[in-house]
Order: sequence, then structure tokens, then C-alpha cells
Amino acid sequence: MEYALEVKGVTKKFSEKGRDFYALKDINLNIKKGEIFGLLGPNGAGKTTLMNTIIGIVLPEKGEITILGESNKNKEVFDRINGISAETYFHWGLKPKDILRFYAKVYGIEKKAAENRIDELIRIFEIESILNSKFGRLSTGERMRLAFAKAMLNKPELLLLDEPTLGLDPHIAQKTRKLIKLINRHKKTTILLTSHYMQEVELLANRVAFINKGKIIDTGTVSKVKLKHFNTYDLWVKPKAIPHKNIVKSIGFEVKGQSLYKEMKTKEDLSVILAQLHKHGIDVKDIKVKRPTLEDYFIKLAEK
Ligand SMILES: Nc1ncnc2c1ncn2[C@@H]1O[C@H](COP(=O)(O)OP(=O)(O)O)[C@@H](O)[C@H]1O
Ligand SMILES: [Mg+2]
Repeated sequence: MEYALEVKGVTKKFSEKGRDFYALKDINLNIKKGEIFGLLGPNGAGKTTLMNTIIGIVLPEKGEITILGESNKNKEVFDRINGISAETYFHWGLKPKDILRFYAKVYGIEKKAAENRIDELIRIFEIESILNSKFGRLSTGERMRLAFAKAMLNKPELLLLDEPTLGLDPHIAQKTRKLIKLINRHKKTTILLTSHYMQEVELLANRVAFINKGKIIDTGTVSKVKLKHFNTYDLWVKPKAIPHKNIVKSIGFEVKGQSLYKEMKTKEDLSVILAQLHKHGIDVKDIKVKRPTLEDYFIKLAEK
């Protein structure tokens, strides 16, 4: 199978105050065609360094990177990919169409085709209303939509997104995630996305790799990674009256304040538990289920 992106044994050392440290240590990743792959890790984990080795502006000590079946030493392959980071910035005095035309030229798109493509992207990313505004006057959300339009000009087969929602306010971040999904679904673009925001990766990615201190800690489907590390969840039941402690114990609960608490196994059936409560004459007023998030998982890993 040809992957959209293969990272093999990539190791990168930096020197800081005369001391060497590994920003990346034997990184291995295979990104399948058509998927959204999330690279999740805290600040300083090595995410941007990895992105930079992929696009060839950071040279690793060891390892190989293959993009769409070709080595990234072959610069022609960069015509087939594109990227966005939260720092994507254009000249303040240019209007959206100036910017898109400029990049269409950079990408060597023929003039007529470029105009058609630009019109399509303006529609998709809802840029019509800002066509007369200079970049410097655009809001963060508008800039982001323009950055996406620019990144889609060359019909990239692989899109690299380095913390695309970093510093955006929540509703713009949410819109940005919608754009990412749209691009993936309608344009079949493979996406590698970095984030330090667990929920984002959970929302967007098919598969995920956790990176911490330059090392991949775990990789797999989001649900598998969750299942592997989180096979329990918390259940709280609020009864009309707290039953006798022997009854509580016999059904595997404990009393916590005004509630009954039980740590549930993922495979345990909630309806069986509820039937048991009913059988013991326990009237349930309220019920609360707390499932662990990737964030919980990450905190656990970071503590190690
Ligand atoms: N050019 C560089 N020289 C020295 N250290 C660097 C350089 N670039 C990144 N680093 C260090 O490498 C580590 C990983 O950084 P980075 O890849 O930016 O992390 P992330 O994007 O996950 O926040 C950090 O400790 C950072 O300070
Ligand atoms: Mg970064």
C-alpha cells in the first residue's frame, strides 16, 4: 500500500547551551490516503519540528520521509501538498484575490484555470464578503478562511496543518474544524494535523499518535487508544433515599455524599445495573456517567 506520508526512524538533535537534546527520537508514522491523522502532544513535544522535517526545512540526523510515494529530497513532490499553520500570514496591503492570484502564479497554474479555481474557493470558503478588504483589516476567522483557500489552490493530495486553531476563539476554532472536515470529505485530501488540544483530535481524527518529548508514546484509532487505556468509567446514581449500606455494597456501589458511586467496566451493561437498582427498590432520581477524555489520558501519560 502506498501511504500519503511515511516517516521512518526520524531523529533530530538540537543543541541548547552546548547540550544536545533530541527534539525527535526515532519517529515512525504511516498516514493512509484519505484519512485525518492527528498528532497530539503538549508544547515542546516536537510537533512543529516534525512538520518542518517533512517539508524539508529541518534536516534530521537519521531517518527517511516519503510523501505520496516519493522521497522528500525530491522537491517536486511539494507541488502536490500544502500546509497551514496558525502563523500563516500575508502582506497586510493585499486583498484576498491579489493573494490567491499571487499564489496561483507561484504554483504555476495557468491563468484561466486559476481564475476558475479562485472563484470556486471563494465560494467554498465564503470569502465573497471580504473581497474588497485588505488582509491587514481582516478578522482572525476571515484570515483563516483565506489561508485555507490559498492552501487548496494547488489541489493538494496531502495537507499539513500545524495547530490550525491555536489562539482562535472557540467559535472560530469550531468553524475551522468544519473546514478541515469539509476539505477531507469533499476533496478527499489526506490531512496530518497537529494539536495540543485533545478534544480537537478526538473530533477530527481517524487515527492518532501521541507525541511527548520527541517520542511517539502510542498510536492507533482514537477509539482503540481510548479503549486500551480507559476501560472504565464513572457512574453516579442519585437515589430518592440512600439505601442501607449492605444493599449498596451488595450491588457494588459505594455511598458518596448524596449519591451512589460505582466504577464501571466499559463492557458492563448499564441497563443490567439499573435493573438491579430497581430490584432493590432504589428509586433513581438522577444518573450521571463520566467517560474519560483523551485529555485525562494525556495527563496520566505526562505524569509518568
Ligand atoms: N531551531 C531550533 N534550535 C534549538 N531548539 C529547537 C529548535 N526548534 C525547536 N527546538 C526545540 O525543540 C523542542 C520541540 O519544539 P517544537 O517542535 O516547536 O514543539 P511543538 O511544536 O510540539 O510545541 C523544543 O524544546 C524546542 O525548544
Ligand atoms: Mg508547534
